[in-house]
Amino acid sequence: MQNIDEIKKQLLSQIIISDNPREVLKVPELKQLYIVIKTLPETDRGSYGKSINELKMVLESAIKSREAELEDSSVEYIDVTAPWDVNSKPIELLPTGMGSQHPLTREIENVIDIFTRMGFEATESRQIDDDHHMFETLNFPKNHPARDGYDTFITDDGYISPAHTSTMQNRILIDGKGKLEDKGQIGVVAYGRCFRNEDIDATHEHTFYQYEGVFVSESATLGQMLGTLRSFFEAYYGQKLKIRTQPSYFPFVEPGLEFAIEKPSELDGKPGEWLEMLGCGMIHPNVLLAAGIDPKKYRGFAWGGGIERLVMLKYGIEDIRHFESGKLQFLRKFV
Ligand code: FA5
Repeated sequence: MQNIDEIKKQLLSQIIISDNPREVLKVPELKQLYIVIKTLPETDRGSYGKSINELKMVLESAIKSREAELEDSSVEYIDVTAPWDVNSKPIELLPTGMGSQHPLTREIENVIDIFTRMGFEATESRQIDDDHHMFETLNFPKNHPARDGYDTFITDDGYISPAHTSTMQNRILIDGKGKLEDKGQIGVVAYGRCFRNEDIDATHEHTFYQYEGVFVSESATLGQMLGTLRSFFEAYYGQKLKIRTQPSYFPFVEPGLEFAIEKPSELDGKPGEWLEMLGCGMIHPNVLLAAGIDPKKYRGFAWGGGIERLVMLKYGIEDIRHFESGKLQFLRKFV
């Protein structure tokens, strides 16, 4: 009996590590136990046989669970959420081996690069804001219909998803006041996500990016603004461009303008094909005042444009919805 216990321990410890646990039953010690039966007196054979049967059952159940364990580890798991043929192709053949920058990330860097080379500082805009920055400090009178023009998302407790990067103007002006005294000017470009509760189509998204310029000095002029914007667009599209403006209304600038470029010939543009690129103008005195800057001493200009539309023109992208679609066919074109 003592022998049976020892054999049990020994075989169980082999079964749990064996790759072929059933083989363990072939060990001579086990066979020997059966042979021993015949040598025992009749009276002992019953209880001895019972112990061997128990041993067999214990071993059999250990073998089954080890077999199940082995089978389990040989199952190939599939990722049902994975794109392409991830589950049947070796992973190194997949284009996921290396990620790439999203085209918008890359183009935002391009835009910011150009403006920083021109001497502007860059700052990222906020993705949640309030009435004070979205409207109050931008000279939108309370209950003025101009507020409705922005289709803002607003929470029950009054937070607003910014509908334009102009929400950064007041912050830029307040932060820059010191520089106005030291260096005589503020020059900042803010960039980031905007949100509008908008009907979506090929040129309108609910989530999109804008870039906003703010410049203040004692002698800022509309001419400087147009020169700055022209230089930017010429650097971005890599060719000389014709520009055009027409009057527009934004409560935070006076005068307000829409700025258009003639479609670059490099991009198959024909003469006379004008594209509206952004809104701009001279900063309204009330906006300077809201930041504690004296509008009698200082003047400024500001602009705000959509980054997707800039990029769409550069690469001939026909639908703005591609950007947020996560479609690899689209994204791979920019790798
Ligand atoms: C504005 O958002 C003003 N804040 C611009 C401005 C700034 C004017 C500073 C004066 C001074 P507007 O709503 O026109 O203006 O939007 C500006 C640009 O953002 C548009 O020309 C367009 O390129 C982009 N844009 C606006 N709405 C969308 C949208 N739903 N999807 C994609 N791009 C959009």
